[in-house]
Amino acid sequence: MAGIHSKANNRLATTPTPCTRTHQIGALALVIITFFLTRLTFSPSSSLDNVPAHYIQYNAVPLASDGSLVWPHRGYGVHLSLKIYVYTEDEINGLKLLLYGRDGKISPEACIKGQWGTQVKVHKMLLQSRFRTRKKEEADLFFVPTYVKCVRMMGGLSDKEINQTYVKVLSQMPYFRLSGGRNHIFVFPSGAGAHLFKSWATYLNRSIILTPEGDRTDKRDASAFNTWKDIIIPGNIDDGMTTQGARLVEPLPLGKRKHLANFLGRAQGKIGRLQLIDLAKQFPNKLESPELKFSGPDKLGRAAYFQHLRDAKFCLAPRGESSWTLRFYESFFVECVPVILSDQVELPFQNVVDYSQISIKWPSTLIGPQLLEYLESIPDNAIEEMIARGRKLRCLWVYAPESESCSAFTGILWELQKKVRQFHQSSETFWLHNRTIINRNLVEFGKWRPPVPLP
Ligand SMILES: *[C@@H]1O[C@H](CO)[C@@H](O)[C@H](O)[C@H]1NC(C)=O
Ligand SMILES: *[C@@H]1O[C@H](CO)[C@@H](O)[C@H](O)[C@H]1NC(C)=O
Ligand SMILES: *[C@@H]1O[C@H](CO)[C@@H](O)[C@H](O)[C@H]1NC(C)=O
Repeated sequence: MAGIHSKANNRLATTPTPCTRTHQIGALALVIITFFLTRLTFSPSSSLDNVPAHYIQYNAVPLASDGSLVWPHRGYGVHLSLKIYVYTEDEINGLKLLLYGRDGKISPEACIKGQWGTQVKVHKMLLQSRFRTRKKEEADLFFVPTYVKCVRMMGGLSDKEINQTYVKVLSQMPYFRLSGGRNHIFVFPSGAGAHLFKSWATYLNRSIILTPEGDRTDKRDASAFNTWKDIIIPGNIDDGMTTQGARLVEPLPLGKRKHLANFLGRAQGKIGRLQLIDLAKQFPNKLESPELKFSGPDKLGRAAYFQHLRDAKFCLAPRGESSWTLRFYESFFVECVPVILSDQVELPFQNVVDYSQISIKWPSTLIGPQLLEYLESIPDNAIEEMIARGRKLRCLWVYAPESESCSAFTGILWELQKKVRQFHQSSETFWLHNRTIINRNLVEFGKWRPPVPLP
């Protein structure tokens, strides 16, 4: 905590001196400060009398001195106080298959790279976290680690095996049964979301799902995302671009950029992307959009990709196979203004980030010369200001160590804290006058033995 305090104060001290757009920058700084700092500066031990009611510590008995019930500070509390149990690979039969495949050969080092690396990163961070508990009895939340996106891509398990293994794994978790899964966390790092687990709707439809994909229209009635219980997380950006001071490619001054806008991605037969590639042929001086190759001599390497990306003022981020797009997050590290062309997109941490200050969202139905004219009409100083604000906020997209005061991980922890409940129940959980929890057959919780029945 002490480390966070001093970092936090530095951040305040380095807030730029007033300029012509003090208000906008101030508003943004306020967002960050509200999110990460104010609650830290209110010491948890403050006497309740001196603290406004809404700042009362989250974990305190939520009663004011007159005995009235006090709701938490906008659902988050004033400082992080969480206990998360992380299931270990040896305690649950089958978990290793979901982590390393049927032959145990899929390596976490390979799985941590690429846009879906969050499935590994979130797990690794929770293992190191000061909020990890080893006692299930005291846990607020439970984390079920799996790397199935990667395992499936590398041929480590088939869809059928993934489905069956998940069911087998869950049936060994009495605490999952106790809450009906409500306090259990799963990461699904790709556009498919929880659909990677075919029977997710039966088993995980009450659990907390961390995913970059929040489009609820994609899979029609069967969307795996639910705004009220799930959490949107940023995609995984290449570590080489997020490391402060040692970036693979540094941003260019605005005046040195060759293009007004660019789109660097594969067409994937998607209408918006095809329109952009077409538009680039009509206006090659304004829009750069080479069709990217995944192999062969024209394939762009990591550095070459970011060198292209940084060469425009605006980076267009159209939808691909699904609504979320990594290009949106990458834009902040080459310092182009992201232009979202994906109508159904959902963005992370919307409780604290005002996306209109750092990005543009344009109707995907209006991709054409009109878009380029609009972007051209934006004065450079307005672009510079958006970029400057994005530079301050982009720490929220980085899966940095927990010691960093601003990171994707800190954002996720705050969101998780908002989900913590005092009590959980399910249709198959019952309790008696003396607080003994039992199942339908009157067996006490402590005696529930796997396989426990699942929904
Ligand atoms: C997933 O596995 C469970 C348990 O084996 C099975 O009952 C269910 O039908 C499977 N779901 C699908 C979609 O195959
Ligand atoms: C969740 O799954 C249970 C069991 O299949 C089902 O009864 C319930 O309707 C599902 N809830 C939602 C919100 O899909
Ligand atoms: C709670 O009450 C039940 C029913 O009377 C009894 O069987 C059980 O032993 C009690 N548990 C404790 C911890 O006292």
